[in-house]
Amino acid sequence: MNNKVKIWGLGIGPGDPDLITVKALKILQEVDVIAYPTLDGGESLARSIAKPHLTSNQEEIIISIPMLSDRYPAQGVYDSAAIKISAAVHAGKSVAILCEGDPFFYGSFMYLFVRLSENHLVRVVPGVTSLAACSSALALPLAARNDVISVIPGPLDEKDLEERLLTTNVAAIIKVGRHLGKIKRILRKIGVIDNAHYIERATMDNQHIRLLSEMDGDTAPYFSMIIVRLSGDILEL
Ligand SMILES: C[S@@+](CC[C@H](N)C(=O)[O-])C[C@H]1O[C@@H](n2cnc3c(N)ncnc32)[C@H](O)[C@@H]1O
Repeated sequence: MNNKVKIWGLGIGPGDPDLITVKALKILQEVDVIAYPTLDGGESLARSIAKPHLTSNQEEIIISIPMLSDRYPAQGVYDSAAIKISAAVHAGKSVAILCEGDPFFYGSFMYLFVRLSENHLVRVVPGVTSLAACSSALALPLAARNDVISVIPGPLDEKDLEERLLTTNVAAIIKVGRHLGKIKRILRKIGVIDNAHYIERATMDNQHIRLLSEMDGDTAPYFSMIIVRLSGDILEL
C-alpha cells in the first residue's frame, strides 16, 4: 500500500466477493478504517460484498443515506461523513471507502471524493462495473468494432429515453426500479422489446435473469439492469 495515501475509494465489484481486484483486496485488508454507505441505516450492500475479506480489528464509519430523490442527494450526510473521515486521517489512520462496482461509474463515492480531495490525497482503485457483470452473466457480448454503447438512466423522461435509444447501437438501462413499465412501453413502441434482456442482482446469490418481453409488472428492484442491442456490428458476429 502507498503510505502517502490515507484515503482510498475502493471499487469492490458488483456483488460476488470474488470479483474484487487483487489491489483492492490488499488495501481493504491493510487500512485502519473502512467507511461505507447504508440506506437509512439498513444493511450495507458494499459491506456485505467486502465481508468475507474484512479483518476483525478495523474501525467502521457508517454513512447512513436518507431515502431522497436521486436529484437531491443528501449533501449534509456527505459533509458530516467527510468530517469523520478527515478526523480519522488527522489521527494517523488510513481509510478505505467501499464502493459497489466502480467508484466513478455512477457511484455515490463521488460526493465524498469532491469534499475530501480538497485537503487530502485521495486515490481510487477501479472495480468491476455492473455493466461488465451483467453482460457476462447474460452471456451477451456488448459492442463490436465501431458500435456505440450508451448507459441510460431509467429515471430520464419518456421522450429523452426514446431519443437516446434511437441513436445508439447498444443500450444498458440502469436504475430500472419503478421505471420498468415506462421502459417496457418505449422498447415495445420502437420495436426492440424482443432484444431486451433483464437482469437483477448480477453475480449475487439471488441473481435473476429474464427476457424483458416475458416480464409482468411495472417495477423492479433497484439493483437491476436492462441490456438491449438495437443495431450495429454486434448483431453480425
Ligand atoms: C448508483 S449505480 C452504481 C453503479 C456501480 N458503481 C457500478 O460500478 O456498477 C446503481 C445502478 O447500477 C446497476 N447495478 C449495480 N449493481 C448491479 C448488479 N449487481 N446487478 C444489476 N444491476 C446493478 C443498477 O442499474 C443500479 O440501479
